[in-house]
Amino acid sequence: GLVWRGCSAAECDAEDGAAGALADGNSNPGDKLEGSDAAPDDPVHLKRRVGLFSGVALIVGTMIGSGIFVSPSGLLERTGSVGISFIIWMACGLLSLLGALAYAELGTMNTSSGAEYAYFMDAFGGPPAFLFSWVSTLVLKPSQMAIICLSFAKYAVEPFVSECEPPHSLVKLVAVISIVMILAVNCYSVNLATNVQNIFTAAKLVAIAIIVGGGAYKLALGNTRHLQEPNFASSTATLGNIATAFYTGLWAYDGWNNLNYVTEEIKNPSKNLPLSIIIGIPLVTLCYALVNVSYLAVMSVSEMADSEAVAVTFGNRLLGPLAWLMPLAVTISTFGSANGTLFVAGRLCFAASREGHLLDILSYVHVRRFTPAPGLIFHSLIAVAMVLYGTIDSLIDFFSFTAWIFYGGAMLALIVMRRTKPHAPRPYKVPIIIPYVVLVVSTYLVVAPIVDKPQWEYLYATAFIFAGLLVYIPFVKWGYSLPFMDKITVFLQMVLEVVPTSTTFE
Ligand code: ARG
Repeated sequence: GLVWRGCSAAECDAEDGAAGALADGNSNPGDKLEGSDAAPDDPVHLKRRVGLFSGVALIVGTMIGSGIFVSPSGLLERTGSVGISFIIWMACGLLSLLGALAYAELGTMNTSSGAEYAYFMDAFGGPPAFLFSWVSTLVLKPSQMAIICLSFAKYAVEPFVSECEPPHSLVKLVAVISIVMILAVNCYSVNLATNVQNIFTAAKLVAIAIIVGGGAYKLALGNTRHLQEPNFASSTATLGNIATAFYTGLWAYDGWNNLNYVTEEIKNPSKNLPLSIIIGIPLVTLCYALVNVSYLAVMSVSEMADSEAVAVTFGNRLLGPLAWLMPLAVTISTFGSANGTLFVAGRLCFAASREGHLLDILSYVHVRRFTPAPGLIFHSLIAVAMVLYGTIDSLIDFFSFTAWIFYGGAMLALIVMRRTKPHAPRPYKVPIIIPYVVLVVSTYLVVAPIVDKPQWEYLYATAFIFAGLLVYIPFVKWGYSLPFMDKITVFLQMVLEVVPTSTTFE
């Protein structure tokens, strides 16, 4: 009870801070006018208000989302063994921790809110930085949104279709509806979006607490036999299978680098950034370990692997008349995560187009609500397309493959900058072995699935990344623009009632 509530309350602050940082960093006037004492034409000021506690809460709140409620089954299916999947869960936690520590050096060295974008710019120059913003706005952020909303829909539909598998079209329809609702919240007001975020974060902590408490109760009654079950399938663990099992597990940990988007707001960052990471990520790892054990305290390994919505199965077995609590808590939790993800996505899109790296219209804000509506709508459209054409598992693979190319790239950036900028101030310096390890692992994660089981999707994803150059060279480097683009921009401005902001708030 109390501890969790304390956490979520602190997260309110942290998330507010995050919102402020992202918005202020991009000079979004809306947040200033609505939010605070700052006069609208003040130069950008960021208050350092994220302390150690809020830093930890921010990490924990971003990382825990849909993954722990959807990934355990898939991971078990992919490895065919309780032991191996447990090891993978823990290894994912360790990898996220090491990756985040390297990000702590990058984030304290370059505190710009563009995170990866800024590090690539420093280490490799314009084109790789552009490719990052290209991929993150067109693929990474929308696919995160699509995965979380599909998980939301799975849990929202499950209680009404008892026992049989819910129809796919219904799940997709509900997922699309949730995207539209989240879009509406984020277009309506910045404050509403951050409030939704704070309130809904508490729900996921409650869900985790119920699961861990229930599992502990069952174990105390001596219900440990599923934990001792031998491998239930002939172990199918090839190198490629292990890599894709990692994709599934790492999805649940994604968001470990989110503190890097608010480094400017952290109090005493050289101490608090690494410390929040060292406390926050192991805490999430511990939660995930306990939740996995709890699932197995209540259902058998094959039941868990077959379950469409493992937390619902858990609730049905254990909570009796209160079983409805589980799907409710999970839908609220996933809705909150999707909301937070779109919130950040809108800001990223906004930042990239302000650099001249995306269409101008995407950086405009609504005249009265000050929300970056065009960027949000654009993201949501892509997310809807992904929901319609993808499945949770395929999207997770697609997302993780692409994301780890860039996480690996950030490690390379760190290593390169140790050589090219040896004297730049590094308030926090990570042991150099760590980025090397993460770089090797991320290379394995990206290459192994392709070698093991070549799939067109990986080729498409890679081709898409490089297709960004076809846009970069003519439109960014040479500065061409399409002749009819102005007319479209004006048209959309009138329809959406949005205006550019860069001139007044530079
Ligand atoms: N780990 C989260 C989950 O399990 C997903 C986080 C998405 N990433 C992000 N940066 N918002 O659902």
